[in-house]
Amino acid sequence: MSKNLDQGFWNAAQKHLIRYGGSFEPAIIERAAGSFVYDADDRPILDFTSGQMSALLGHSHPRIVSTVSRQVGQVAHLFSGMLSRPVVELAERLAALAPGLDRVLLLSTGAESNEAAIRMAKLVTGKHEIVAFSKSWHGMTGVAASATYSAGRKGYGPAAVGSLAIPAPNSSRPRFKHADGSLDWQTELDDAFDLVDSQSTGSLAAFVAEPILSSGGILELPHGYLAALQKKCRERGMLLILDEAQTGIGRTGHMFAFQRDGVTPDILTLSKTIGAGLPLSAVMTTAEIEEEAHAKDFLFYTTHVSDPLPAAVGLAVLEVVAEEKLVERARYLGARLFDGLSRLKQRYDCVGDVRGRGLLLGVEIVKDRKDRVPDHQLGAAIAVEAFRRGLSMNIVKLPGMGGVFRIAPPLTISEEELDLGLKIIAEAVEAVAKTNLPNIAAE
Ligand SMILES: Cc1ncc(COP(=O)(O)O)c(C=O)c1O
Repeated sequence: MSKNLDQGFWNAAQKHLIRYGGSFEPAIIERAAGSFVYDADDRPILDFTSGQMSALLGHSHPRIVSTVSRQVGQVAHLFSGMLSRPVVELAERLAALAPGLDRVLLLSTGAESNEAAIRMAKLVTGKHEIVAFSKSWHGMTGVAASATYSAGRKGYGPAAVGSLAIPAPNSSRPRFKHADGSLDWQTELDDAFDLVDSQSTGSLAAFVAEPILSSGGILELPHGYLAALQKKCRERGMLLILDEAQTGIGRTGHMFAFQRDGVTPDILTLSKTIGAGLPLSAVMTTAEIEEEAHAKDFLFYTTHVSDPLPAAVGLAVLEVVAEEKLVERARYLGARLFDGLSRLKQRYDCVGDVRGRGLLLGVEIVKDRKDRVPDHQLGAAIAVEAFRRGLSMNIVKLPGMGGVFRIAPPLTISEEELDLGLKIIAEAVEAVAKTNLPNIAAE
């Protein structure tokens, strides 16, 4: 019998865990290494989501293991008013990677980094309204949750006063179109800001955006959009906050996704990838904004701010990314993965769209290619089948967001592993198409 069926484990899990969203995978994970996690039968499962979109260097990268072991023995945590070398070195290194964003605050989670960024924007502008995209995800706490529109709004009482949303541009399902049917994002953006202006009480503080809306279904901001968005912000005295939790540190084939667009935000937040699976996040901003915030007594004093252990991990992550040329690798492997997935699109009617950048790709599962109605159920069946065959892929699972696989393997993945993943996806689609849905065309 499979050790994954350990009834004691599952009974205790059911009895004692608070369920926090979605369902649990039907395996007990005992260990992880490189691009694989291993279940209780020591079966390898290829991890196409880098844990929770974070394990940029794969699992148990030797440099991370040695850094944690060394640093935990040296100094892991400190009184929040004390500084250590890894903190200052990481701040210096990050600043060198993002010219103009010279000041850095090191925290633990993505939500926390967005809380700090928004808090700073409010203090500096003296205003309080925060605008975000309708399919955004910025975290599960306070104002980060208030700026999260893709899920989790119902049942928790009022969001922060002054929370506003505009539609995320969607090139594959345009709301505003040019004559040739392509997305007219400028008209959409103008229209959206007309609405913002009519709702605003004159207190617009900031816009917070993901360069690629990941939880919203891998919606990429089109070329030129970020610059236009920044212009809208400047015209209104708002700050532009970019949340690069998932896109930062090379995943899209640039160190930061905003670099493709030549737009530097006023505040940048990093999490997930910067700790490569350990809890580390960062807020970066200009010297001017930081001076202004400090002059107004900016307070974001937390237990784990400036902790040396995660900072040392962040430094190791940046070193490995540079040494192993992982930014270039994300671009190269991303193109290979994109091609492979596009071939699946040609073969299977239910693969409606392949999109994204670098090693952050989305595959939309639809009822049929002509009508392109998202098919969450079919997507979920494919994910279950893929998992059975040894591939973990995340399908946007929450109700109302369904039908898109988010594929984001570690940047250290080998070409063979990438091809193995593609093969399993094809087999899973084929198997599900054959058994469940006879109307889905093969080839
Ligand atoms: C873009 C983005 N920002 C913020 C967060 C929140 O990060 P955390 O879960 O570490 O608080 C997430 C998490 O999925 C995210 O995708």
